[in-house]
Order: sequence, then structure tokens, then C-alpha cells
Amino acid sequence: MARHLLEVKGLCKWYGKYQVLKDLDFEVEKGSFVVIMGKSGSGKTTLLNILGLLDGFEKGSYIFNGQNVAKMGENQRCLFRNSHIGFIFQQFYLIESLTVAQNIELPMLYHGGYTAGERIDMVKESLQAVELENKFKSYPNELSGGQQQRISIARALVNNSDLILADEPTGALDWKTGLKIIDILVKLNRQNKTIIMVTHDGDLRKYATHCVFLRDGVFTGEDDL
Ligand SMILES: Nc1ncnc2c1ncn2[C@@H]1O[C@H](COP(=O)(O)OP(=O)(O)O)[C@@H](O)[C@H]1O
Ligand SMILES: [Mg+2]
Repeated sequence: MARHLLEVKGLCKWYGKYQVLKDLDFEVEKGSFVVIMGKSGSGKTTLLNILGLLDGFEKGSYIFNGQNVAKMGENQRCLFRNSHIGFIFQQFYLIESLTVAQNIELPMLYHGGYTAGERIDMVKESLQAVELENKFKSYPNELSGGQQQRISIARALVNNSDLILADEPTGALDWKTGLKIIDILVKLNRQNKTIIMVTHDGDLRKYATHCVFLRDGVFTGEDDL
């Protein structure tokens, strides 16, 4: 087994003529909690979307768990993303017309191969991890913002993903509620889940096992917040 969960070399990304990521080298060890910091517009979301196979890139290599991501076709990439990667976004992106349980179940439905009974068990297990078992039948709009974010964490966990990617997960929450979210991520990391979190909140770096700074698409290694 490779020691690194993922390895990026010489990664470049352009939006038209604008180069947003410039020759990035990046390795993430299994079980680490990486925090990517940088000002707005520095390329954090773009990098996270590439790492999460939501977006492509023009130059460089990306190896995830020993597999060359650039060589995958679209179908394979979707399948790979669904079975290995969970996402948490600033705006939660829960589906309002579905219950909490149905929202969490979605990645398993896309994945296929689980019985209804298995799906319910896995939803319950994920809800336990975020301490919201009692919200199984609730709808997202019956929950607070912090609870909705915890549900989105449960959704990211449900497929037993190897990697959780979080893009400003506390950005829409007040400080205290945000800390509860970070608490959960730290707990998951202690259970050996690999986490990459983007934030521009300098206070959050202390929770990381590794911290990198991005400025105008380049890793600077230093703090310019
Ligand atoms: N889809 C896109 N098309 C063109 N430019 C984009 C697109 N997405 C982001 N950008 C530009 O790329 C730069 C980095 O954006 P982003 O990755 O969202 O940064 P961050 O998450 O650090 O704020 C910004 O200048 C932004 O305007
Ligand atoms: Mg962003």
C-alpha cells in the first residue's frame, strides 16, 4: 500500500488564458488533517475541486491511492469519486424535499449494490458519528445551520470514503457552531479518516496535522493572512 493517499506533481490549471494553479506539488499522507489556507481568490476551491475529481486540469499528474486520475474516463472518475471521496461545502447543499435519512442515503443509491436494510443501517451509523440520530426523519429546513452541516458530514461519511474534502465548512456558521463542526472533523481524523479542509480562518490551523498556504495559485509555505 502506498504511504500517500494522494500525490500531485506539477499541477497546472487555467481558466481560459488565466492560470489559476501554477505547478503545484502536493502529497497527503493517509490519516492526516491538512488545512489549506489563503486569501479569497488564491485558488483554494479550484484545487479542492480537482482533488475531489469534480474538475479537471491541463498539466501535471495526480495519483490517488496508486491510481492515475488523469487517465480515467468520465464514468470511471464518477464511480471512483463516489466510492472514495466525501464532500462538505460551505452551503451544505442538502436537498430540501428529502428527509435527513434520504439525503444521507443518496451517495449509496448512486453507488448501488446495497439493500434497503443495509442503507438504513449505514445511515444510522453516519448519524451517530455526528450525534444526530434523532433527526433521521426530519427535513433540512427543520434543522439549524450547524445541524445541517453535521448532516452533510454524515452524507460525506456514508460510503466509507477514504478522504473528506471540506471547503470552508464553517464559513456560513457562527464561531461556536463552527467549532462543533471542527470538533467532529477532528474526531473523525483521530479515527484515521484523511481530511483536507480549505479555510481562510487562521484560528483553525491549530487543528491541522499539516498546513499549507496558497497565494495566487502557488504554495508559499508562509502565512500571509
Ligand atoms: N469557473 C471559473 N471560470 C473562470 N475563472 C474562475 C472560475 N472559478 C474560479 N475562477 C477564478 O480563479 C481564481 C481562484 O478562484 P477560487 O479557486 O474560487 O479561489 P478561492 O477558493 O481561494 O477563493 C479567482 O480569481 C476566480 O475568479
Ligand atoms: Mg473558495
